[in-house]
Amino acid sequence: MALMFFSEYDDPREWKEHLVALMPDLDVRIWPDLGRLEDIDCALVWKHKPGDLKRYPNLKMIVNLGAGVDYILTDPDLPRGVPIVRLVDPYLTKQMSDYIVLTVLAYHRRFPEFARAQRERRWQYIHPVDPARTRVGVMGLGVLGGDAARRLRELDFQVAGWSRTPKAIDGVASFHGADGLMPFLDRTDILVCLLPRTRDTDDLLDARTLRALPQGARVVNAGRGHLIVDGDLIAALDDGQIAHATLDVFRTEPLPADHPYWRHERVTITPHCASVTLPRTAAPQIIDNLRRLRDGRKLLNRVDPAAGY
Ligand code: NAP
Ligand code: GLV
Repeated sequence: MALMFFSEYDDPREWKEHLVALMPDLDVRIWPDLGRLEDIDCALVWKHKPGDLKRYPNLKMIVNLGAGVDYILTDPDLPRGVPIVRLVDPYLTKQMSDYIVLTVLAYHRRFPEFARAQRERRWQYIHPVDPARTRVGVMGLGVLGGDAARRLRELDFQVAGWSRTPKAIDGVASFHGADGLMPFLDRTDILVCLLPRTRDTDDLLDARTLRALPQGARVVNAGRGHLIVDGDLIAALDDGQIAHATLDVFRTEPLPADHPYWRHERVTITPHCASVTLPRTAAPQIIDNLRRLRDGRKLLNRVDPAAGY
């Protein structure tokens, strides 16, 4: 079997080493040194060049080298009928939950307020409160949101989640669909956003939905930047409706130097690094899917292009 690799963000040699260790006869070819394009059975790609995937006449599987598939699905020349699978990497999941727990605890223990007070040399005592009185809401209860919700629950927060379909996670209240959105926001002091980018989630967090949160709510977005109408969030931060936002993802990345988020004192920016895929922990499932493909068995973590995730 021949697999072509493309990513401008990852080390191809490291990926090749981990893949070949698990499947010694796998022929890994690194873009652009691909030899005969007819040989390629599988593409392992992150932010590929649009149109490139239609060059392989015998392509049987596309593996998205990451969790979110929004980029791949925007390629108008995606070969029809070729299954797309995404990565569900245990380390990526853990790393994302660590990022969410870190941010939620920082909000809960009032670190942004202490940082502001320190800049002004002000001793501002804020009495810590019981986590059981802080209501965290996780938008998107899939692989990442589900794990983050469980980890937050273990810390004694009151946790709820919002998804397309109802979920049963121990100790986590489930809200779903359009009807569940406003009641979910109404009970959420800290909003964690782990939604994929789809036509239904674009612009979901706007003036109306931000206003549905309790006054002074805090937000963290590590899903995709298109979820948020930036001007509406900035207005909500300015008028105190939202006390703080921690943002890892943006509509345009890198975030342009003149973007108002950079200078906003109630915004914390991280450069789309909440979680990354590691070859060591993700290679086994790619090999598993290659074996499934070879044996004609059902592929794991298959993307539904119609749903967009
Ligand atoms: P996933 O397993 O596919 O879960 C997606 C969740 O979103 C599901 O619970 C789904 O509901 C829900 N959802 C989708 N559309 C919805 C809608 N219209 N209304 C309500 N809920 C909706 O995805 P994942 O692996 O958890 O990853 C989530 C996203 O995180 C990725 O798509 C990617 O954009 C982002 N991400 C970011 C980083 C980073 O470093 N910042 C790293 C990895 C991933 P159902 O369960 O009902 O289908
Ligand atoms: C990163 O953003 C991913 O989707 O894996």
